[in-house]
Amino acid sequence: MSGPADRPVDPSSTDAWARLGALAADFDPDLRGWFAADPGRVDRLTFTAADLYVDLSKSLVVDRVVSALLDLAREVGLEERRDAMFRGEHVNVTEDRPALHTALRLPPDAHLEVDGQDVVAEVHDVLRRVYDFADRVRSGAWTGVTGERIRTVVNIGIGGSDLGPAMAYEALAPYRQAGLECRFISNNDPTDAATTLAGLDPATTLFIVSSKTFGTLETLTNARLCRAWLLDGLSGQDETEAVAKHFVAVSTALDKVAEFGIDPANAFGFWDWVGGRYSLDSAIGLSLVVAIGPERFAEVLAGFHAMDEHFRRTDLAHNVPVLMGLLNVWYTNFLGAETHAVLPYAQLLHRFPAYLQQLTMESNGKSVRWDGSPVSTDTGEVFWGEPGTNGQHAFYQLIHQGTRLIPADFIAVATPPYPLKDGETDVHELFLANYFAQTRALAFGKTADEVRAEGTPERLVPARVFPGNRPTASIMAPALTPSVLGQLVALYEHITFTEGVVWGIDSFDQWGVELGKQLAQQVIPAVAGDEAAAAEQDASTQSLIAYYRRHRQ
Ligand code: F6P
Repeated sequence: MSGPADRPVDPSSTDAWARLGALAADFDPDLRGWFAADPGRVDRLTFTAADLYVDLSKSLVVDRVVSALLDLAREVGLEERRDAMFRGEHVNVTEDRPALHTALRLPPDAHLEVDGQDVVAEVHDVLRRVYDFADRVRSGAWTGVTGERIRTVVNIGIGGSDLGPAMAYEALAPYRQAGLECRFISNNDPTDAATTLAGLDPATTLFIVSSKTFGTLETLTNARLCRAWLLDGLSGQDETEAVAKHFVAVSTALDKVAEFGIDPANAFGFWDWVGGRYSLDSAIGLSLVVAIGPERFAEVLAGFHAMDEHFRRTDLAHNVPVLMGLLNVWYTNFLGAETHAVLPYAQLLHRFPAYLQQLTMESNGKSVRWDGSPVSTDTGEVFWGEPGTNGQHAFYQLIHQGTRLIPADFIAVATPPYPLKDGETDVHELFLANYFAQTRALAFGKTADEVRAEGTPERLVPARVFPGNRPTASIMAPALTPSVLGQLVALYEHITFTEGVVWGIDSFDQWGVELGKQLAQQVIPAVAGDEAAAAEQDASTQSLIAYYRRHRQ
């Protein structure tokens, strides 16, 4: 079973694509003019999705473009493919499996049977075990081998087994339990383990080894480093007992967990139909559950689910992830954008762009469609970003006045997590003034006449003109609650999916990461000094390894 259609539709063969091409050919963006001539534009292009208020009016579109984009979605079968994903069909074609992250957030009374498996019951069984374990750590009922309560939880994982929990732990900082800290080790650079473990007391530290496959070199190496650090610090204690009290695991490969020496009773499973970058809401979120507690985590899941419902049930013309995904296609394939900025005006979302890099680029960085045929269009744009206002003093110059088109999503919340005043000034209001001002400046710019009217000397006028017509989406929420965080993540999951369906690619595989992993294995002996292995490398690699061996102290 490979989904609703046997092969993807080539988007460039559709009528809508031809119409979009024609519209792009004489496209003359004019946000100032469009706003002046069309008082209904903001209402028409502002949408709500769960708790999110999304203003797309500063996008570079007119109604004819939006309607052609919606026709494109219909012609490529977006709704059918979306419904197939929710039903659990094998939309991850190259791995012949469902992509069922949406099932991780179904309420317990929902029903979904996939390939003979009662998915909802299994999801909630694991959730109950996760919640029970987290409660024991949070209450102090779970102790380390010396009987002391756990003070620090260290998640060892990489990619999807790290970025989601690490991002959400930061985002939900105000909801963390005091006296219980989480840290994250991901990088194979031993500096990561060394600096993360520095200052920790092994007696009060709990490690969560998070790896879907339990075969990832970085994670297993770091897990062994941590085990050695633990046993060294707890010398005199029974080693098996120490590992049992200080190591738990999250994986789909429970046999490998047991081989590593972790008690299967302390392992939390998930399923091959959860992609790594879609796994924050599975047991991979265990560190987050420990930090914020089961009730708050359940709110995160409810937020995800609310956005799933919006994506699944809202007509395309009012469907926020669909519209945002289609706008990205318009910018990428018709207006020449190559990158997309995500700019949270919320310091707590400072890891959100990094999280989105994996979600979007591992999903949509593909050159063949899901039937193996080459794509006929550009695919996945480069996602990047930093929180505002920091970015304003770093790279916004290029967005405002550079030669490249960089669509940008601006994200902000109304209620500050930490309301502070500078004298009489509410600092969050000052901060939000920047949020509002930036999208206005990007959209409407500043003309030469306006610059002159400020008394600018003529020779400086060109440098001070802002061309405007730089597209932005403004996303606002009442506050950065657990639910809103779930909604934001699900929003981008579905934007990514929408784009992938248009391009006809499998957004759920990641074969492109394999070659580097294989070659690293082959290079290891050469790095360690095996001359025969070094001689098998290309000339550049040989010379780099030789440099390393000469300079290593
Ligand atoms: O190498 C890429 C990748 O497979 C990601 O897709 C995944 O999130 C990450 O590695 C970690 O994989 P695992 O959870 O199996 O250790």
